[in-house]
Amino acid sequence: MLRRRWVGASSSTSPKATSHAVAAIASYRKARNRLPGLAVPKSTTPTTKLPLTFPGQLAQSTVRGYATQKQATAYIHGKEPYDVEKVRHDFPILKRIINGKPLAYLDSAATTQKPRDVIDELTRFYNEYNANVHRGVYKISEEATAAYEEARAKIARLINASSPSEIIFVRGTTEAINLVAQSWGRTNIGLGDGIILTEMEHHSNIVPWQLLAKERGAHLKYVGLTDDGHLIHDDFRLHLESGGIKLVTMTHVSNVLGTINPVREYVREAHKQGCPVLVDAAQSVPHIPVDVRDLDCDFLAFSGHKMCGPTGIGVLFAKKTQLEEMPPYHGGGEMIREVHLYESTWKDSPYKFEAGTTNIAGAIGLGKAVDYVSELGLRNIQGHERELTEYAHDRLGKVKGIRIYGPENPGTKAGVISFNLGDVHAHDMATLLDEDGIAVRSGHHCAQPLMERLGVSSTTRASVYVYNNEEEIDRLAESVKRAGRIFKI
Ligand code: ALA
Repeated sequence: MLRRRWVGASSSTSPKATSHAVAAIASYRKARNRLPGLAVPKSTTPTTKLPLTFPGQLAQSTVRGYATQKQATAYIHGKEPYDVEKVRHDFPILKRIINGKPLAYLDSAATTQKPRDVIDELTRFYNEYNANVHRGVYKISEEATAAYEEARAKIARLINASSPSEIIFVRGTTEAINLVAQSWGRTNIGLGDGIILTEMEHHSNIVPWQLLAKERGAHLKYVGLTDDGHLIHDDFRLHLESGGIKLVTMTHVSNVLGTINPVREYVREAHKQGCPVLVDAAQSVPHIPVDVRDLDCDFLAFSGHKMCGPTGIGVLFAKKTQLEEMPPYHGGGEMIREVHLYESTWKDSPYKFEAGTTNIAGAIGLGKAVDYVSELGLRNIQGHERELTEYAHDRLGKVKGIRIYGPENPGTKAGVISFNLGDVHAHDMATLLDEDGIAVRSGHHCAQPLMERLGVSSTTRASVYVYNNEEEIDRLAESVKRAGRIFKI
């Protein structure tokens, strides 16, 4: 019978040190401008101006405005066939044998595996140039500072930010959203103001706003979902037009349904009302090309560990104009210009928001991860995941008693497949899959309001990334069938 398992050191910077650090920063700023960045072709438009009421076309709109799906597909797949077997060799963990079977890791929406390049860079940092950043005047501190700032510049290029100073290192998506809620929110949200969210948000993009709304006397308004997991655009319009809305905050890609939301169109509508938009991009930046200038969002948050990088490091992008107006989130070392007994002044962004010793190794590791995914190419990654998702829908869709949640057309969604089989509890399903060496997530996926909307308490979720192949999807489908036989579905 199945076991049921659910139920800082302060900166003591001398004037000499300060001038030395300034010189070092100036020299790596120069150097980083010469670094090769992600090639983002500029000729991928025409921009499709999709009306908000065509849910079937939403995915196209986020593939950077391709006019037709055919055009998008041609571009995404590139010239070279994606060599997943070559990619798999980059990930040492995939050699693991679990319960006598090779590990089939299908939980990348929770966290991705790490390529050797990233693991090696972390080891190299600790072995060769571990030192605090922006503080030391000695060689290895300068090396660490340069690598840390180079990582920031790489991230800026990845998402096409106007400047590295719009990139704040944080612990992850959750901290990024809390930063905006506490710094921007407490400054700009007051009694009776409204914040628009969607019913498909992760708890990380709900709870910080609940806390803020309670403190400020503001209210939250949710955009509802269609049965196939798309946003109801009329809800959005009605909320926006109801007045007093000060912020729209929404996920780019649902971590449960894989729905790709038409963020650019929402931003455009919100901006018409003078309302800024925060995008939770935890499930998009690692998987699809994301261009913050094209989206024109005001804030965007994502995590390093979901894109081949280390845990404990993430990014808040914010437009410079917003950052300049925002007060610090945390106070402490290195975020100050001057401290006196009763008052202090702050550095400019991004340093104003990076108090204390930050996750230096994490940021440098994330820089390597950006190199890695950029080399594979975000369009290739998206194309590969799309093929796998279509294949998974096809294979799983044939299993008797299965229900897959979210968009019915797998060609329009990201690589997340949430399902239930009859009345088999998701944790039982995941336990059985684990017996076959298959790692998936089960539960509410930190999206309880969405579970309520779907009328379930939990789902089993398979999510794919750069290293997954069709054989693993075959194994998943066979293992789900085995569960069906055991539970007599
Ligand atoms: N947010 C991560 C997930 O969806 C942990 O699984």
